[in-house]
Amino acid sequence: MKRFLILLPLAAAGILLSQCGTSGKAKGTKAPALSTYESNVQTVIMANCSPCHIPAKGGNKKPYDNFANVKSDIDEILRRIQLTPGTRGFMPMRGQKLSDSTIAVFKKWKEDGLAEK
Ligand code: HEC
Repeated sequence: MKRFLILLPLAAAGILLSQCGTSGKAKGTKAPALSTYESNVQTVIMANCSPCHIPAKGGNKKPYDNFANVKSDIDEILRRIQLTPGTRGFMPMRGQKLSDSTIAVFKKWKEDGLAEK
């Protein structure tokens, strides 16, 4: 009985500490989500690379409305969106430079392994 009374608070403290550890790292979720084309990249492209790269919107440049092309061109996409506006090759052409957080969406997707979904 005496041993039980000593162990109980220790066990409770252990559970509390382990929960603090996980919630601190990932804001309540179990593991940080990996970026995917469908959850993260597609909407950013639709918003920023349309209409030119979206055939359905009348674009006649290389289509980026599909996973395969965006994946195979990710390095060139990353290079161009990080150029200084006005520089040859800058994308979105004649547009504003994407925000750092939008550029980060492409970077994180690459770091996470370029998954489709
Ligand atoms: C206003 C139209 C327009 C918009 C918007 C636009 N682009 Fe482009 N893009 C072009 C044109 C025109 C070319 C072909 C000329 C060239 O290569 O610079 C091109 C070419 C490219 C290429 C080279 C493709 C190849 O054939 O190798 C990449 C990569 C690219 N764009 C990425 C993007 C990305 C990413 C966005 C959105 C963030 C974007 N573009 C937005 C017009 C546009």
